[in-house]
Amino acid sequence: MKTFYIETFGCQMNVHDSEKVIGTLTGQGYRQVTTPEQAELVLYNTCSIRDKAEQKVFSRLQQFKKDGRGKRFAVLGCVAQQEGHRIFEKAPHVSMVCGSASYNKLPELLVQLEAGGRRVTGLSLDTEDTFETPFARRDNPHRAYITIIEGCDKSCAYCVVPFTRGPERSRTSESVMGEARDLAQRGYTEIQLLGQNVNSYRDPSATGWGFATLLRNIGAVEGIRRVRFTTSHPRDFVREIVDAIDENTALCNHVHLPVQSGSTRVLEAMQRLYTREEYMRRIEWMKSARRAIAISTDIIVGFPGETEEDFEATLALVDEVEYDSIFSFKYSRRPNTPALDLGDQIPEEEKGRRLAILQEKQRAIQIRRNAGYVGVVEECLVEGFNNATGQWIGRTSQNKTLNFLRAGECEDLAGRYVNVRVTRAGPNSLAGEWVN
Ligand code: 5AD
Ligand code: SF4
Repeated sequence: MKTFYIETFGCQMNVHDSEKVIGTLTGQGYRQVTTPEQAELVLYNTCSIRDKAEQKVFSRLQQFKKDGRGKRFAVLGCVAQQEGHRIFEKAPHVSMVCGSASYNKLPELLVQLEAGGRRVTGLSLDTEDTFETPFARRDNPHRAYITIIEGCDKSCAYCVVPFTRGPERSRTSESVMGEARDLAQRGYTEIQLLGQNVNSYRDPSATGWGFATLLRNIGAVEGIRRVRFTTSHPRDFVREIVDAIDENTALCNHVHLPVQSGSTRVLEAMQRLYTREEYMRRIEWMKSARRAIAISTDIIVGFPGETEEDFEATLALVDEVEYDSIFSFKYSRRPNTPALDLGDQIPEEEKGRRLAILQEKQRAIQIRRNAGYVGVVEECLVEGFNNATGQWIGRTSQNKTLNFLRAGECEDLAGRYVNVRVTRAGPNSLAGEWVN
């Protein structure tokens, strides 16, 4: 029996790609093991969104430079696509490099590898296919990912994704619906629709569904209690998505809508294709929805040329929107990207200062907003039990963590939907007591 170990870095797309890669390997007679030491084949599914993420895989590979004998190493994902053959030079013990657009070819590539291939590659970006396999090994027994669209046709000036994941390819609605029904039948109650630009989804078949229609139909699948989706691009975020959320409580009232900057000038330099005002209109749609929609975002500080005034515009936008959570990053120069050679780079120290100010502001907003939940009863999907705190871990439809105590009997609640009254609130989570 051939053994493999896989470690995954980066976004949920990568996490789900790995589930499909695991399914493919298992179908080829491989068995997964839990440490690289036990494995004959070690795979890293990599991320190159920022320099730090990219460095992780090289530091992992470094560890095996000397004592990796008898093992094969494979680099998958975004660093594989970005660095290509250069990986063989940097890390000569790697014998396979494969980007996500070539995962359909994995079975053939594995045959080459087993035949002793030293430099096996899958690096073509020129594909119309998406990676579909009935064998995805799902990691969570209650929540399942479905990739509905791969790649990205935008060209945000800072972003590697168009170079690492290739052009946009949507799956047919028939195949997506088939997968959703199958998952529901197998007992999954939460579905997360994935895509780098999930709301650019366009059914390539004659059915021709757009994203909002797909969302409505997934929400109507019997047995599915929660539907989430990530990540949305503001340019393609239409009002119909908010209407769909309003109509069906199975569609979670949480939207992740990356703004990146609150300054129209910077947004233009980033080639984001919307102004601050256009973004705010989308926020207003959500704020005027019947169900309170939690909103989260991504923000980059220190994009080349970002002035103090631009940064203040971002702070003002954060104040105005009052996000439920944000992911914020210092701008990182990425290979191939349009912004790579822009002048007026912001010094690291200044980026750090801006990031700290932004994060401090957001922390205060979260403390204030979360405090508003005290006394409210929320339905939670129970994710597990935390032995250290003696609390159950729940997640609300708005994607907030709500930890709770349950006195008395202690049957396993994982996977169940329970009602919890919020009794305490912190900046990053809520705590409460079970009420049913
Ligand atoms: N530098 C810093 N942050 C980046 N992101 C994407 N590219 C870069 C970069 N070059 C951030 C964006 C994106 C999130 C996934 O990562 O905010 O939405
Ligand atoms: Fe990282 Fe982006 Fe690739 Fe996801 S798509 S793994 S975030 S570089």
